Amino acid sequence: MPDTAIVSAVTWAAGCDALHIVDQTRLPAALVQLSLTELHEMVEAIQSLRVRGAPAIGVAGGIGLAVIAMRAAVASPATFDAEVTSAAAALRRARPTAVNLAWAVDRVLAAGQVGGASPAIRARAMQDEAAAIFDEDVAMCQRIGGHGATLLRGGMRVLTHCNAGALATAGIGTALAPVYAMHARGDAISVFANETRPLLQGARLTAWELGRAGVPVTLLTDGMAASMMRDGRIDAVLVGADRIAANGDVANKIGTYGVAVLARHHGIPFYVLAPTSTLDPQTPNGESMDIEMREAQEVRAHGGVQTAPAGVAVHNPAFDVTPAALVTAIVTDAGVFHPPFHFTD
Ligand code: MRU
Repeated sequence: MPDTAIVSAVTWAAGCDALHIVDQTRLPAALVQLSLTELHEMVEAIQSLRVRGAPAIGVAGGIGLAVIAMRAAVASPATFDAEVTSAAAALRRARPTAVNLAWAVDRVLAAGQVGGASPAIRARAMQDEAAAIFDEDVAMCQRIGGHGATLLRGGMRVLTHCNAGALATAGIGTALAPVYAMHARGDAISVFANETRPLLQGARLTAWELGRAGVPVTLLTDGMAASMMRDGRIDAVLVGADRIAANGDVANKIGTYGVAVLARHHGIPFYVLAPTSTLDPQTPNGESMDIEMREAQEVRAHGGVQTAPAGVAVHNPAFDVTPAALVTAIVTDAGVFHPPFHFTD
């Protein structure tokens, strides 16, 4: 299957005059590309999950800031500084849990701090840094795929939750990277995708991208994982991460913790796959993580159809924390890490 079958979340365009993303709110019905030039459009795209997945929002935030900087490059140094600083702050706070967003925005901002240089030179340095982050993300996904594949065998049936595939990165994904690597070399591998309520990233995105790439995929509702595991139909769990604390606690899409508990009960390996940009050694453990709370209406309705009583109380955290004790291994671009985990700068 040619690589063009794999659609990544963000694309790089030389000149950096716009942030180019796939509008993931339109999938699977339509594959629509957006070119965003305004800060408010970029922030809205991140908050409404047009672009989503930890590595992808990092890459998008970095490119977005570079786009703003390139446009401000003709302004006075003081105006340039003001525009770039406030854009960085707005992008950084668009979503709180995935550490990749703040990491990438801070990197691009820092690249523009060239003492005595003109705004044009500083903007060019920021563009180069955003391009580097994009390239690194593509390369990290490839390396995660190689390392992750060493943990799997042909014929395996893996379960995944949410979407940690190409649509969550600039490359071939994290949790799905070993799947793509094995599929490309002709190993049989099949995926069960949890639909992932409330926003259905598994149904809308994971099932779409794997199907398009020719990887066998079966969609499950979130409540099915337990009986699938008890019936011996799952060989391994592969998930991504939004933030990994120094002790190996993992924030990922709500429901991941439940899957980890089930995997442990059934003696099934639970693997977390993420780029090093998702490691956050400054956060000691999961208790210190800021978990994003989202709108109640995401749970009360879907696709514009009310599925619960209007006004019913709703609890809607976007992520949960899986304790390190339930994680069999963490796979990054740097290799495979087994417990006890201790990530440092
Ligand atoms: O709310 P989302 O869709 O951005 O949540 C995404 C996830 O939880 C992913 O599993 C995580 O970001 C890893 S993506 C490689």
